[in-house]
Amino acid sequence: MLMFILGHTITITFIGCTLSSKMSALLKREATGDLLVVCKASGDKLRLQILGILRNESFGVTELCQVFNVAQPNMTHHLKILASAGLVQTRKEGTSVFYRRALTADADPFSGLKQKLYDTVDLEPVTTAVTLGVSRVHRQRAQRSQSFFARRADQISENQDLIAPIESYLPTLCEWLEELPRSSSVIEIGPGESPLLSRLADQFKRVTAMDHSISMLQKARVRLNTTCSRRVRFLEADISDFDGPMVELIVLNMVLHHLSSPSMFFQDAARQLKPGGTLLIADLSPHKQDWARETCGDQWLGFDPVDLTHWSEDAGFTPEKQSFLGLNNGFQIQLRQFRYSPTLS
Ligand SMILES: C[S@@+](CC[C@H](N)C(=O)[O-])C[C@H]1O[C@@H](n2cnc3c(N)ncnc32)[C@H](O)[C@@H]1O
Repeated sequence: MLMFILGHTITITFIGCTLSSKMSALLKREATGDLLVVCKASGDKLRLQILGILRNESFGVTELCQVFNVAQPNMTHHLKILASAGLVQTRKEGTSVFYRRALTADADPFSGLKQKLYDTVDLEPVTTAVTLGVSRVHRQRAQRSQSFFARRADQISENQDLIAPIESYLPTLCEWLEELPRSSSVIEIGPGESPLLSRLADQFKRVTAMDHSISMLQKARVRLNTTCSRRVRFLEADISDFDGPMVELIVLNMVLHHLSSPSMFFQDAARQLKPGGTLLIADLSPHKQDWARETCGDQWLGFDPVDLTHWSEDAGFTPEKQSFLGLNNGFQIQLRQFRYSPTLS
């Protein structure tokens, strides 16, 4: 009996060994296959350039065709190869699909290799033609947004209430503002008709209300409701072109999801902030309510908090406070505070 049990155990163990060695051979073969896919995907100049511009940004296929002056079937083919190697991933923004660089995951056996590839790609200088192509795409996005606000300035405040009534998060924002020095000079980008601009004028020494839409700036001027209105100056400008005196605080309330390049915005903000300055952002967490693109002119359907952290750190910011507030209509607000803390080299 004992012999039978022993024999059986040995047989099971043996089968187990055979199975596990077969399994590991299989896994190895699959892994080698994947390695080949990754190597092949990265063995092409155009694909490396595509990976280069997808570092912090997302582009649609037609935008990528424009940047690289390549026909759509050709671009689709290259993106497919990069996607099958796990080097790019897609994100749907309404009916449009955007490509971005895939994040490396610990569970991926090639995460080290992919990270090295990304790091090396990032050391490569971007050609002038590609830089110009990217700027052209950003300009087109900004123009679309600008003409939206020119046409719909009268409905923005109503639309804003449909998505995120400011009453739901203003108290938290005000608590955070209370902790900042009153002597600060401030830029609020895209103030619109929200009461925040008056609140900033009441508290801080100098406030610049900046908007790239003259109609929206006019709305903000009319809405300004404070005895301190002389502290506010109105400026028609786009933050990406702006180059004025540096300030201690930049505030963006429901504006980031309208910008042509939210990741680049952090670099722009860093240029305008004094070291130690504060960036305050109120925006949406990722959502799937496509109608916001059509009705409210939203370029991006909210943001993954991890992306904001990553973009901010890349531009020399340290994330500080954060607060996430769920709303009854299915949207979630994220309030984020970042300190500009560049490392001196
Ligand atoms: C949805 S409204 C937000 C208005 C207000 N902050 C609120 O919460 O009600 C977005 C505002 O940002 C402005 N805006 C969008 N992109 C901009 C840019 N690149 N530079 C300056 N202003 C911009 C728009 O013109 C608009 O006034």
